[in-house]
Amino acid sequence: MSFMHDEAWISKQLCDLKEQHLDRSLVVYHEAGGKIRIGDRTYLNFSSNDYLNLARNPDVVAKAAGALSSSGCGATASRLVTGTLTWHNELEQRLARHKGYQCALLFGSGFLANCGTIPALVGRGDQVFADKLVHASIVDAVILSRTKLYRFRHNDAEHLEQLLKKSGASGRKLVVTESVFSMDGDLAPLKDIAGAAQAHGAMVMVDEAHATGVFGPKGSGLVRELALESLVNIDLGTLSKALGGYGGFIACSGPVRDFLVNRARPFIYSTAPPPPVVGAALGALQVIEDVGGLGAQLLTNAAAFRNRLQGAGLNTGNSASQIIPVMVGGNSETLAISKKLREQGVIGVAIRPPTVPQGSARIRLSVTLAHSREDLEHAADIIIAAAKSEGVL
Ligand SMILES: Cc1ncc(COP(=O)(O)O)c(C=O)c1O
Repeated sequence: MSFMHDEAWISKQLCDLKEQHLDRSLVVYHEAGGKIRIGDRTYLNFSSNDYLNLARNPDVVAKAAGALSSSGCGATASRLVTGTLTWHNELEQRLARHKGYQCALLFGSGFLANCGTIPALVGRGDQVFADKLVHASIVDAVILSRTKLYRFRHNDAEHLEQLLKKSGASGRKLVVTESVFSMDGDLAPLKDIAGAAQAHGAMVMVDEAHATGVFGPKGSGLVRELALESLVNIDLGTLSKALGGYGGFIACSGPVRDFLVNRARPFIYSTAPPPPVVGAALGALQVIEDVGGLGAQLLTNAAAFRNRLQGAGLNTGNSASQIIPVMVGGNSETLAISKKLREQGVIGVAIRPPTVPQGSARIRLSVTLAHSREDLEHAADIIIAAAKSEGVL
């Protein structure tokens, strides 16, 4: 009798995933970013979120290396114990200024920023209203909070308004959306969403993981571009995508920050981000602010790439950003296209359920500043040919 070691159910579930073309496994790369070498071949990587090509920028690397040599590998304690170093303070002040908020608070990752913030703001007896397509970290954060979750139709502020109207007066309310959607690259109607929330006394949180560094003045995000800071209580960003490093943060008011320092469990009960990681983010912010126009340049390149794909008849959904899905539908066809692309020197990973809804498997392409205009034209032709060969066109 050894029930403890019966893992047959795991093998059965893995077989089921394989049959549905939904199994996933890890592929090891030697390099990261928009253009990488594998063996003796250079690949155009459209599955990296290093949108501004900063992960290996020499100034960013130098700042991270400086923090490493002056302050060491680790913060050695959680923030409330002795882990708050001048690095953290400086980065939080810079991020707050960058985002146009009074304060900012760092978390270990964007995922943890959601899981720390949402359960601190709402709990049993409260209500969260989230877009149908929000990221898994938001859904998991709401589950952790034990709050009742209502989903409004994707980017449908009227549906949100209807749900808010029905919600009654009891408890706190929180509306959550992304500004640039991670798998669709479309933009939320933030003004209408924030307006509906305000009319019903709800707090607003916007996940700008994919907008930070790209949209808004000096990459400060879509909330700032639309001047919605006073209506958005929490503007969440990540250091892991356009900023090329790792970590998450929120921008918010002073009282919200003070409250989260006391209540956000992943902030309180986890070691503070390491100095080189914080240094890298400071370096990236500096480059974005000094160079200027990086986000605008990326969006212009992405628009030309999207036009070429659309011109050939591919369905790129409502993408209006550097994230461009090529909608395929079936899992096996999407995998076949991804394989063909790779053979041609283009990396475009197949995104399948549960990351996206059933029947909407796609190749999610992200344009980065590592891609030249010629690279983009070349890759678009390869993508169009691969889609044709799989009967998508
Ligand atoms: C919308 C959104 N929020 C949060 C996260 C998590 O950010 P991080 O990768 O920094 O944990 C992601 C990452 O994919 C995301 O797409």
